[in-house]
Amino acid sequence: MDFGLHDKVAIVLAASKGLGRASAEALAAEGVRVVIGARNQTALEEVAQEIERTHGSAVLAVPTDVTKATDLETIMQAALQTFGHVDILVNNAGGPPSGTFEQFDDTHWQAAFELNLLSTVRMIRLVLPAMRARGSGRIINIVSTSVKQPIDNLLLSNSIRPGVIGLAKTLSTQLAPYNITVNNVCPGRILTDRIRQLARLDEQLQHGGNAEAILKEMARDIPMQRLGKPEELGALVAFLASQQAAYITGATIQVDGGVTRSLL
Ligand SMILES: NC(=O)c1ccc[n+]([C@@H]2O[C@H](COP(=O)([O-])OP(=O)(O)OC[C@H]3O[C@@H](n4cnc5c(N)ncnc54)[C@H](OP(=O)(O)O)[C@@H]3O)[C@@H](O)[C@H]2O)c1
Repeated sequence: MDFGLHDKVAIVLAASKGLGRASAEALAAEGVRVVIGARNQTALEEVAQEIERTHGSAVLAVPTDVTKATDLETIMQAALQTFGHVDILVNNAGGPPSGTFEQFDDTHWQAAFELNLLSTVRMIRLVLPAMRARGSGRIINIVSTSVKQPIDNLLLSNSIRPGVIGLAKTLSTQLAPYNITVNNVCPGRILTDRIRQLARLDEQLQHGGNAEAILKEMARDIPMQRLGKPEELGALVAFLASQQAAYITGATIQVDGGVTRSLL
């Protein structure tokens, strides 16, 4: 299927590895010119070159800390200067730390708000004028299944990420007349560094653990009986960016092997 994305321009945040990188790859594979951002410049530039080599689409690396408003302005300006416009925005960021209510003070709450909600607000604010002027656009937010079913010990994610859903749902109504869609993608348990860290997989492996057994244990309550692959989430991002997805807006879709038990 041709997704009708050839020569479109996307900004993908937090894209030097994991789900952001997989989203950038899936878009580049469809011929999208991609601007990727993350904090570590060396890693980001290597990834840009790898994606460009593999898929033949232009990829621009712009060092970006999504918690810094000036960095978001810089990546937006770089995209406009290099490619002239922005058709697709994929909001992504690192995850907030795990922990209990007693462990977090105002600083932790403020940091989670800035990382996972305010960054999304700011970036959407930056892309909207150009998308409105062109009469089309795709905004896709990578969140978590915690917005549908709270995850034990991920209090900050459970509390802050639902704000992104409220934002997206509200904007989807306002922006529909401009053919700008706003959707959310919820990873369940997808094997990236973030999941490795949460499960301390690397540490266990170093102490003689069996990778397959550890991953199987992590997948025990997932109906598909396995962890997801980053490219399985990237595929949904590319579809939501496509011309075929023009009538899908305000949706929150999980990629989780069936692990979320909620009805909606
Ligand atoms: N993997 C899963 O199963 C899963 C499940 C639920 C939710 N999520 C959420 O999905 C998001 C992506 O997760 P992932 O698994 O892909 O994580 P990952 O493999 O650890 O990758 C995180 C990416 O985010 C970048 N990043 C972190 N903080 C950033 C910041 N302040 N500004 C810009 N870039 C930043 C990192 O690069 P730099 O360090 O160089 O900045 C890296 O490219 C996270 O919010 C995570 O909580 C993931």
